[in-house]
Amino acid sequence: MHKDIAEILYTEETLQTAVQKLGRQISEDYKDKNLFMVSVLKGSLVFMADLMRAITVPCSIDFLSVSSYGNSTKSSGEVRVIKDLDCPLENKDLLIVEDILDSGVTLSYLKKMLAARGPRSIKICTLLDKPDHRRADITADYRCFVTPDAFIVGYGLDYAEQYRNLPYVGILKPEVYENK
Ligand code: IMP
Ligand code: MG
Repeated sequence: MHKDIAEILYTEETLQTAVQKLGRQISEDYKDKNLFMVSVLKGSLVFMADLMRAITVPCSIDFLSVSSYGNSTKSSGEVRVIKDLDCPLENKDLLIVEDILDSGVTLSYLKKMLAARGPRSIKICTLLDKPDHRRADITADYRCFVTPDAFIVGYGLDYAEQYRNLPYVGILKPEVYENK
């Protein structure tokens, strides 16, 4: 285990089992639809890569990048679009893929912005959900795990751009970010 990790919450195996199950569910729900998966960079990259390979119906993908945190562990409440989608959304059944739904500020902003572009439907899929922290009125349509109230890294999730490459999801030791 990495020295900065206090506890592993979800091992590689646990993550794979959950992602495969979710992929089967989404494949069932989007059988007769025009699935368009949008990964919110960078945190959802690893989840997106595994999830799309667990989906058996035709789909296309795109990426967008937003920033709301800087190097802090608390959301600033401000959302900035850094990279927008390449494709239009008309006639698409949009599935927004996120790493973690925390305050919900990022996703509620994105959902409104993308809804205005006229997709046929919009749903939200998140690997992790921290419902106790919610400030915006938003819920996930699909989620793998409800997580405890701690700062979490690994499997795409970062602190100050580090730890994204850990193959598991774990709690970051508070001493790593305290007094920073
Ligand atoms: P929200 O706007 O507060 O819901 O923030 C969502 C974004 O904040 C996520 O996509 C993550 O990038 C980041 N985030 C929130 N909580 C954590 C965490 O515990 N670890 C790492 N990133 C987090
Ligand atoms: Mg993110």
